[in-house]
Amino acid sequence: MPSPSKAAVLGYPIGHSLSPRLHGFWLHYYGIAGSYEAREVEPQALSAFLRGLQDNGFIGVNLTVPHKVAACGIVDSLDPTAQRIGAVNLVTVDEQGKLLGRNTDSYGFTQNLLTAGFKPKGGTAFVLGAGGACRAVLVALSDMGFTDIRLANRTAEHAEELAQELSTPHCKISTVAWIKAAHVLSGADLLVNTTSLGMTGKPPLDFSLAELPTEAFVTDIVYSPLETDLLRQAKQRCHQTIDGLGMLLHQARPAFEAFFGRDPQVTQELRNFVAGTTK
Ligand code: ATR
Repeated sequence: MPSPSKAAVLGYPIGHSLSPRLHGFWLHYYGIAGSYEAREVEPQALSAFLRGLQDNGFIGVNLTVPHKVAACGIVDSLDPTAQRIGAVNLVTVDEQGKLLGRNTDSYGFTQNLLTAGFKPKGGTAFVLGAGGACRAVLVALSDMGFTDIRLANRTAEHAEELAQELSTPHCKISTVAWIKAAHVLSGADLLVNTTSLGMTGKPPLDFSLAELPTEAFVTDIVYSPLETDLLRQAKQRCHQTIDGLGMLLHQARPAFEAFFGRDPQVTQELRNFVAGTTK
């Protein structure tokens, strides 16, 4: 009998990660004899850890902060999405022992929106932030068919870099000054917060939705708390809202399938189980 598949999430620090709980739920639910653990790996040890995956019995690993960008220079090949995003959150080992870097964050973002009822039809998205998570969101929005993305970030240069790098002939990303952002919302179909503002322990996101069209959806990639101030304000203004937990749950699906051979379902039971730890 083959030995049970072993996977892990690597980060530094790693104590905060919900991934073991999430993958552990699915392993138990589907009765799969595998394991998924959290491993604290210092940045200078990442390369050796990844190179030793096969010898140490790992079928693959997920990566979280601060390893996602560094891994691009370590793996043997990158899938096209990881290449565009410039970050890796999933590493698998093939039969020859070669490391493939993938990125499932944009998939997770898209699936969260689609399963919550958002229907992409081109149009305009308004995005706050320009950090690592924002790169995956911009790639997702571009692939969903948005033709116009307005990007606002506290540090304007970060937004300008992303706009230049990720604009395509079909999807123009333009930048908007952070202090003027709330006044450039007309015509937007979707508003996304990718900053860390509003997260438990971080400053609040002080942003008025008064000029956002009522039909626009509002989503936040922050999932702790589940209902951020931004989403609360959006609900009060009758926008449809989508919280950030679904992105975390959906980005894990391709990883679970790669590790354990089954595409798992994102259910309300799973949401409740994982959300129980995010208060
Ligand atoms: P991640 O990789 O998870 O996206 P990050 O790279 O640290 O995290 O990015 C955090 C985002 O939140 C950035 O867009 C950051 O803006 P800057 O590029 O100006 O740093 C934004 N952010 C963090 N704290 C902020 C604050 N107090 N006010 C406004 N934006 C803030």
